[in-house]
Amino acid sequence: MTERLEANDAGISRAAELLRAGGLVAFGTETVYGLGADATSDTAVARIFAAKERPRFNPLISHFPDAEAAFTEAVADELARRLADRFWPGPLTLVLPRQPDGTISDLAAAGLPSVAVRVPRGTVTAALLRATGRPVAAPSANLSGKVSPSDAYHVLRGLTGRIDAVLDSGPCQVGVESTVLDLTGTAPMLLRPGGVTIEALAEICGPISHPDDYTDTLPVSPGRMASHYAPSLPVRLDAQEVGADEALLAFGPELPGAGLVWNLSPSGTVDEAAARLFAGLRFLDSEGARRGLTRIAAMPIPRAGLGLAIRDRLRRAASPRPA
Ligand code: TXA
Ligand code: MG
Repeated sequence: MTERLEANDAGISRAAELLRAGGLVAFGTETVYGLGADATSDTAVARIFAAKERPRFNPLISHFPDAEAAFTEAVADELARRLADRFWPGPLTLVLPRQPDGTISDLAAAGLPSVAVRVPRGTVTAALLRATGRPVAAPSANLSGKVSPSDAYHVLRGLTGRIDAVLDSGPCQVGVESTVLDLTGTAPMLLRPGGVTIEALAEICGPISHPDDYTDTLPVSPGRMASHYAPSLPVRLDAQEVGADEALLAFGPELPGAGLVWNLSPSGTVDEAAARLFAGLRFLDSEGARRGLTRIAAMPIPRAGLGLAIRDRLRRAASPRPA
């Protein structure tokens, strides 16, 4: 049975108790719902991979209530501290060297000498992490390769019976995953565009290469695997018109002729579009299939601000699926 826990003191205590006992608890963050487990326990972390049917080689992000806790597990240089000061709590994940006496399990780090750490925003999330008192490993709370969950209902649709509980803190504010920045090399490298824009990062790091310039062939970060965030209907990008057999994922004024539409942002605002992205993909997928439509046509999204993260997720949703 999967418990649905309210975001109050009793719910938070129960969630922390389950995590400390090696259980799986999904919880809301400002980005998406995470599927949490005690990051210091190989057995607990192994249950995440099993529940998600996720390939073993994917390293997981560890979550902390504050920067001080994060930097007991990850070695922070001056740049990491400045980034943490500016963006934590918030949707930025830093990949840093593991502390020699760190407690994060090898399975959570996928055997790498580095570790991904993040301090999410939100009072319920912080209270849960503080009550748990250990790093919490949490990938998005969906079956591997499927659309990420932006509310507790999405989590339950995919994972009921596979996890112990979901702590329901309502819909996620940002709606796309955290930005992943690797600081282990000579220059900061963006591994995944996300909730903190590269424009904002650049104010502290200087120029960072643009994610649209990346090829999808580099295996550096498994989140960059081409097919990901995939609805069951195929996705067509940068649509200029919409066919009779297509559902429309609109941005701004809608293309004429679509029978089924989810508008990410009628006013053309990328922040609003990010918050509505995963719910929209889920809606068009299920409702489109029910109506016998065969594809999702996605209108163009601007290459600025959270538009980069949205474009990245849509590109993956449109990639050919593994057999
Ligand atoms: O917003 C988020 O980041 C959500 C919420 C739940 O916090 N979590 C999330 O986790 O998206 P996940 O596991 O789906 O994505 C982790 C990303 C992947 O792209 C993974 O490859 C990368 O972080 N990553 C983790 N550890 C890494 C490491 N040591 N080196 C390089 N990339 C790493
Ligand atoms: Mg994910």
